[in-house]
Amino acid sequence: MNREDLLKEAFKAMENAYAPYSNYHVGAAILTKDGKIFHGANIENASFGATNCAERSAVFAAYSEGYRKDTIDALAIVSDGPRIAAPCGICRQVLSELLTVETPIYLSNGKEELDTNMNELLPYSFGEEDVLR
Ligand code: THU
Repeated sequence: MNREDLLKEAFKAMENAYAPYSNYHVGAAILTKDGKIFHGANIENASFGATNCAERSAVFAAYSEGYRKDTIDALAIVSDGPRIAAPCGICRQVLSELLTVETPIYLSNGKEELDTNMNELLPYSFGEEDVLR
């Protein structure tokens, strides 16, 4: 599956966003090295802090099925906002541990696109090598 098709999968996932509070819809799709797709959408909660972002939903789904950073090929994240869906700070921390620094991350809002990775999104990150000494 190519980049365009993975972005399409993320837009499909966005249809399942549960965002009654922000009305900001986000979708994510992970492609694994063996060709599986995992979808994620943002799922909000009246207790706002309990909200789960789309990219965390997707990466947790992949990890829950036994996939790990070395078996994940790429991540696409899309939104219906005015700008490209750049992952929030909490997601950057999570993704910095659960993806490799060079795993391609494709961002789009249907108008603008950006291809990036965790190396660019969270340099000098705090990680397992700091804790597991
Ligand atoms: N959101 C995501 O799903 N991913 C991001 O990286 C940015 C924010 C969601 C959380 C919340 O449901 C809505 O977008 C507005 O913050």
